[in-house]
Amino acid sequence: MDQGNYSRVAEFVLSGLSSSWELQYFFFVLFNFLYITTVLGNLLIVLTVISDPVLHTPMYIKLTNLSVLDVFLATYATPKMIHDFLHESKTISFEGYMAQIFWLHVFAGGEMVLLVAMAYDRYVAIRKPLQYTTIMNLCRCTGLVVGSWVTGIMHSPGQLASTINLPFCGPNIVDSYYCDLTLVIKLACTDTCVPEVLMLLDSGLMGVTSFLLLLISYTVILITVQHHSSVGIAKACSILTAHITVVTLFFGPCIFIYAWPFSSFPVDKVLSVFSTVFTPILNPIIYTLRNKEVKSAMHKLKTRYVSSRLLSQLSLTR
Ligand SMILES: *[C@@H]1O[C@H](CO)[C@@H](O)[C@H](O)[C@H]1NC(C)=O
Repeated sequence: MDQGNYSRVAEFVLSGLSSSWELQYFFFVLFNFLYITTVLGNLLIVLTVISDPVLHTPMYIKLTNLSVLDVFLATYATPKMIHDFLHESKTISFEGYMAQIFWLHVFAGGEMVLLVAMAYDRYVAIRKPLQYTTIMNLCRCTGLVVGSWVTGIMHSPGQLASTINLPFCGPNIVDSYYCDLTLVIKLACTDTCVPEVLMLLDSGLMGVTSFLLLLISYTVILITVQHHSSVGIAKACSILTAHITVVTLFFGPCIFIYAWPFSSFPVDKVLSVFSTVFTPILNPIIYTLRNKEVKSAMHKLKTRYVSSRLLSQLSLTR
């Protein structure tokens, strides 16, 4: 097809998660609940950590940044998806679609690197507990956090650049409920081999590398913990199992979708729910809310809030 001589589609039509109305109502309620819980849960963590100086440590700086990333990851596309559940026509403009791809890769890319940074943090804490504060000093911690944001921001434009200039002359129906690269590339009316290989080398490689790094650090942590039985193997194992579950839920779909981009599986559509909807809600539960320090900080926050309310009511009655 001659690239200079086609009319580009103005919008894409998303076919949604399901065509049954009952199911769509069910998804509407379910995803609303998940979305609101995700945002409130993550904001609560940020507020708790900021309010308690005891938690101003490298680990919690990373955790709150993860919470912020989770809020963004949950927010860039899910509200539109929730809105679409109740609407017959699920369309999105060409620019809107490209913008969603851009933000998906910024936030998911940042999250991948940050998860690796957090596993590295735990690795240092368990392997070299005495040198932990020297190794994970403020400078290095800030570097890791800023590095993950920068990686996301730098990774995304490259991905988008290989797609945005492809000739999209129709059809414009995307068999999904959210906007992703793999699906839209297939709609381009040209040979898409080069953009698909670029995608594999960029997103696919990034996902696989981060996932392998995480698995290696978790394995080393597990082996170390087993040699120091005083730590409580059962507890450590349950914590690590939780981490590995989340990481697999997040990376599994990414790797499945990006590292095998040449054939489309119907499960792609369902799998991607895990990365965009479930990971942002599971992170606060697994990394933070089960943690004793955070629980006590939340308790302090609550006590402070209640006592300040009592004080203000007291001054009103006087
Ligand atoms: C995120 O990380 C930066 C750099 O380390 C830190 O200054 C900032 O406080 C963190 N953000 C939150 C919300 O904790």
